[in-house]
Amino acid sequence: MSTLKNKLSAIVKEAFAAAGYDKELGAVTFSDRPDLCQFQCNGALTGAKIHRKSPMMIANDVLAILSSNEIFKSVNVAPPGFINMILSDEFIAQKAREMAESDRLALPLMEKETIVVDYGGPNVAKPLHVGHLRAAIIGETLKRLARFLGHNVIGDVHLGDWGLQMGLIISELERIRPELCYFDESFTGKYPEESPVTIDDLSKLYPEASARSKTDEEFKARAMRATFDLQRGRRGYVALWKKFLEVSVADLRRSYARLGVEFDMWLGESDADPYVAPLLKILEEKKLTYLSDSALIADVAEESDDEPMPPIIISKSDGSQLYATTDLATIIQRMADFDPSEIWYVVDSRQSMHFKQVFRLAKKAELVKEATELHHVGFGTMNGSDGKPYKTREGGVMSLSVLIETAKSAAKERIDSSETAKNLSESERDAIAEKVGIAAIKFGDLINHRLRDYIFDLNRFLSTEGKTGPYLQYTVVRITSLLAKAQEAGAMPGELIAPESDTERELLIKLFSVGDVLLRAFDDKAPNAVCEVMFDIAGLFNRFYFENKILANENEKQRASWLSVVELVRRMLLLLLDIFSTEVPDIM
Ligand code: ARG
Repeated sequence: MSTLKNKLSAIVKEAFAAAGYDKELGAVTFSDRPDLCQFQCNGALTGAKIHRKSPMMIANDVLAILSSNEIFKSVNVAPPGFINMILSDEFIAQKAREMAESDRLALPLMEKETIVVDYGGPNVAKPLHVGHLRAAIIGETLKRLARFLGHNVIGDVHLGDWGLQMGLIISELERIRPELCYFDESFTGKYPEESPVTIDDLSKLYPEASARSKTDEEFKARAMRATFDLQRGRRGYVALWKKFLEVSVADLRRSYARLGVEFDMWLGESDADPYVAPLLKILEEKKLTYLSDSALIADVAEESDDEPMPPIIISKSDGSQLYATTDLATIIQRMADFDPSEIWYVVDSRQSMHFKQVFRLAKKAELVKEATELHHVGFGTMNGSDGKPYKTREGGVMSLSVLIETAKSAAKERIDSSETAKNLSESERDAIAEKVGIAAIKFGDLINHRLRDYIFDLNRFLSTEGKTGPYLQYTVVRITSLLAKAQEAGAMPGELIAPESDTERELLIKLFSVGDVLLRAFDDKAPNAVCEVMFDIAGLFNRFYFENKILANENEKQRASWLSVVELVRRMLLLLLDIFSTEVPDIM
């Protein structure tokens, strides 16, 4: 399914060719001056050099061919050589009907590829904090976008479940509860079903252990030893670690579910462990590693580098493995399990050096095919009003659940004082506040290009005006109620007829642009352009709604067609909101 823009490009390219010019000049774009025209082609300007002719002459030659095409209401040439196009109203109506008849609103499908999206990256036993928010919501949106466009997408949480933090918690627990059977090396019985720790215990154990390791050398050495023993399979530690994992994952699942984030795979760094030995073997066979200060390292610098590129440390002298080792081993696992053509890592931009190194070595060692694309989909930080990474009032790291609760209770306050919700029960209002609060957080984030830092401004994010999640939700609520009122009055949506107002034309053309926006967002791996088009659609819809008395319109055919336009807008916004995993309340 090709987009309208591509179809028009094909027509204009044919016209360039028929007039004796380079075909490729005929690329068409949406007009940036919708008051003048709907589509434009700037090819005559570029063509002037190639064909040694004035842009106006080229444009006029092309115009002569295009003007006989009845899909256009008008085509004209504007100095210094722009070709401006306006579609015929009947053609617009026909496209709108095609859209309405299609399950997927005539949006494009791409050639199917397998893509692994690695996002989330929470660490077991450490609570989710705001830094994990962006990975989760950007990753989820990209995953859903790619899936909607027809790809086979596997979302993996890639838990941090194997590093020193595990040894730290084990050692801390051993310090305070040495009597537990997990620490008794002579214990051969069955370990208890029930976990020795709750999620609250875990969230205290880690910070305490981490602080202790910074002042107590001996404790730190024990924690490192425990990490090492765990990774070598010491029975009691493995049993204990499994309990930590269970408790932590149950808690993580709850937090992610609130955000509408769903992983297909709950694999962790530990799942890469069986691939570490094969990795070391490959690296050795390809002579990519060497010993330096008794650590095993690999060079990844290239001559063309204009910044220093340090070597990767594969394992330290004590045999312990590092972050890069796990990521490389995980690549082997992913290639073996899914054979993806692309792997996307949705991880903080500050890790860009790490990924550059890992990707280079993965290519050098041929862990992936030549054509396999490895992408670090980086993102900036969420800052507080002081422009520094968002903190709690006490200056600590803000946990994600506190952040969500803050947004929810602010949303709840607004709902409690609103007229429309006054007959609702407490639990109904609570459910609305949850949806609104989450949408506020998500769109406050996703409206920014992912690489940009942004300031967390809850008041602005929660407003039902401006480019916010609640504004989109509110628009859908308004549309739904309009359609319900129409139905009550016996007015049904009917055949889409030729638009007669500029706002209606503009609104439909905007709907026709969504496919191109989705494709571009996929290419850039940046969902903010999709947010923008949603706000454009909502804004045009609201204009359309105020300019036309839809329900009071006496002309039945016109009213039925307008209701179909309204329905089309509703379907489009809901489809896109689903890509953002955002729900809409019934009332706001
Ligand atoms: N757990 C890591 C952290 O908190 C993020 C993991 C990102 N994914 C990856 N494959 N390295 O920094």
